[in-house]
Amino acid sequence: MSQRVYQIGVIGAGVMGERMMNALRTHQTFRIAAISDVSAERAQEAAKLSGDVPWYTDHRELLKNEELDAVYLAVPPKFHHAIALDVLAHKKHFLCEKPLANSLEEAEEMLQAAKDAGVVHAMNFPTYYQAIFPELKRRLEELGQIRRIDILTHFHQWPRPWQQTPWLSGREQGGFIREVLPHFTHLTYALFGDLEVIRSEVDYPADQEACETGVSAVLRLADGTPVTINGLAGIAHQEHLDYRIYGTKGTLSLQNWTNLFVGKDNEAPSPVDIPLIDRLAHLLDEFAQAIEGQEARLVTFETGVKVQKVLEDLLGSH
Ligand SMILES: NC(=O)c1ccc[n+]([C@@H]2O[C@H](COP(=O)([O-])OP(=O)(O)OC[C@H]3O[C@@H](n4cnc5c(N)ncnc54)[C@H](O)[C@@H]3O)[C@@H](O)[C@H]2O)c1
Repeated sequence: MSQRVYQIGVIGAGVMGERMMNALRTHQTFRIAAISDVSAERAQEAAKLSGDVPWYTDHRELLKNEELDAVYLAVPPKFHHAIALDVLAHKKHFLCEKPLANSLEEAEEMLQAAKDAGVVHAMNFPTYYQAIFPELKRRLEELGQIRRIDILTHFHQWPRPWQQTPWLSGREQGGFIREVLPHFTHLTYALFGDLEVIRSEVDYPADQEACETGVSAVLRLADGTPVTINGLAGIAHQEHLDYRIYGTKGTLSLQNWTNLFVGKDNEAPSPVDIPLIDRLAHLLDEFAQAIEGQEARLVTFETGVKVQKVLEDLLGSH
C-alpha cells in the first residue's frame, strides 16, 4: 500500500460527489485539496467539511492548482466531456463518474485525450468493487451451459424520491437507461466480455423533453448467448432490480445490488450471505496503486467507451 498522499480535486459536490468525498476524507492515500461546483453553496459546504480547503464555482480555477495529482468528476453526464478535456489537458490522473459521456463520440474523444495525456483513467462502477463480483464469477462455473441473462430494472417512480434533480428526468441526459443500465451492462461485460444490441424498443411519454418510461431489448454475447433487458418506470411496484444468469445446472439472481440468490434444479432459490465491503475505499486503493505505476484492477475509459456504445445503441442514438 502506498506511503504517499495524493492531492485530489473534486469537481461536482452533489449526491455522488458527496458520497465519494466521504470515502476520500477517510482514505489514507488521498487528501481532498480543492472543490469546485457551479453551486457556490455546495462547493463551500463541501470545502468546509473537507478541512476548509479552497473552493471554486469554475473548475478551470481548480485546475490551476499545480499541486493536484488527480481529479474526481461527478457532474451530470452532459458536462463530463468538456470538463474531462480540461482535466486531461492539465495531465491529471482522472477518476470519472459513469456513464463516461453523453454520446459515443464524446466518450471516444475522452479516451483519446486520456491516452494522449498518459495519465491513469478510471471509472466508478461500484458492483465491480463489492465482494459480490468475485462471488458471481466463481459461481459461473457451477451453472453448466449459460442459456440466457435477464436484466430487469423496475421503478415505481423515476427519478426516485431521493434523486429529485431535474436533469435525471430529462431526455437529454437523464432516464434510467443512462443512469442505471450502465451498471448492469458493465457487469455483463466484466463477467462475459463483449455484448451487442440486437434490437431495442424504448417507450417515451408525449412530452418531448421527458425521459423514457420503458425499454425492452435483446442483446447477445460474442458466443451468441442472449441477454434481455426489461425496464419500466412509473408502475405500481416497489423498485426492483434483478440481474439473472440462467444455466442448465444453476441460476444466479443478484437482486437490488447486493442480495444474491442461487437456484438449483426445481428448488426454491436460496440466499447467499456475502459480506459488504467498503466499495469506494476499495476503488480508491486500486486507483492509488495505478498512480504508483503498479498493476491495478480498474475500469478504464476503454471499457467506458464499450459501455457507452451499448447505451447509445439501446437508445437508438445513431
Ligand atoms: N457510480 C455510481 O454509483 C453513481 C451514483 C449516482 C450518480 N452517479 C453519476 O455521478 C454523476 C453526478 O450525479 P449526481 O447524482 O451526483 O448528480 P447531482 O445532480 O446530485 O450533482 C451534480 C453536481 O454537479 C454540479 N455541477 C453541474 N455542472 C457543473 C459544472 N459544470 N462544474 C461543476 N459542478 C457542476 C451541480 O451543481 C451538482 O452539485 C452523474 O454522472 C451520475 O450518473 C454515479
